[in-house]
Amino acid sequence: MMNIVLMGPPGAGKGTQAEVMARKLFVPHISTGDIFRANIKAGTELGQLANQYISKGDLVPDEVTMGMIKDRLSEDDCKDGFILDGLPRTIVQADALAAILAEQGKKLDKVVNIDVPTDKLIERLSGRRVCRNCAQTYHLVNNPPTEPGRCDECGGELYQRADDAVETIQNRLDVYQAQSAPLIEYYAAKGLLLSINGDQSINNVLVEVGNGLGLNW
Ligand code: AP5
Ligand code: MG
Ligand code: ZN
Repeated sequence: MMNIVLMGPPGAGKGTQAEVMARKLFVPHISTGDIFRANIKAGTELGQLANQYISKGDLVPDEVTMGMIKDRLSEDDCKDGFILDGLPRTIVQADALAAILAEQGKKLDKVVNIDVPTDKLIERLSGRRVCRNCAQTYHLVNNPPTEPGRCDECGGELYQRADDAVETIQNRLDVYQAQSAPLIEYYAAKGLLLSINGDQSINNVLVEVGNGLGLNW
């Protein structure tokens, strides 16, 4: 049983690591950003609402986000653990998450914080490409697909996220500093924080996370 939160600024590598970790741990990878984007693509009411915030790089309101995640965490595949990528992003969300888990008789086991310097974040975000079909993530330089523009996993078309435009990246980084960075102290005080140096290769980050969680992968 592993209930894990993955934190870190935009572009830190949360999604990249969560993908592999979820496969190794046999638990779902729950990315709030991916759920919002799926809703935007499907044109749902939630998607239309969320897109007003996401397109600017602002946070979706806490009530909306927490309602969505409460439903997701109640699904059957979460009973033996989960990797939560991109939530909580505010102290209000962290308290609400603790309450949702307590209702289900659960708690967080670890909060993994991936730390990366800002100049690297901008480089990672501006070179990122994502599969339109399966959301697998690539980087033009750091992690290119075998065939340019095509997903290795499913052959889907790769695209650039709208919020990876340079103007929007800066706002996302500012929002992170103002609203999400305080969570590092919050979880350190609860004794849950595992800090990881994210400024190394994708594989070395994974190894450091595994060691920190006491898993030999
Ligand atoms: P979300 O989709 O979560 O975006 P984010 O937090 O900005 O994080 P990213 O997905 O951009 O980065 P990542 O850390 O996953 O990095 P990745 O692995 O892709 O959220 C989008 C929006 O939704 C938010 O702005 C907000 O509006 C809304 N939202 C989501 N959750 C919310 C919440 N809880 N409350 C309110 N609103 C919410 O890697 C980045 C790139 O770097 C890739 O190209 C990758 O290949 C490359 N890379 C990864 N690791 C390495 C490495 N070690 N070395 C070199 N390159 C690497
Ligand atoms: Mg992500
Ligand atoms: Zn794909």
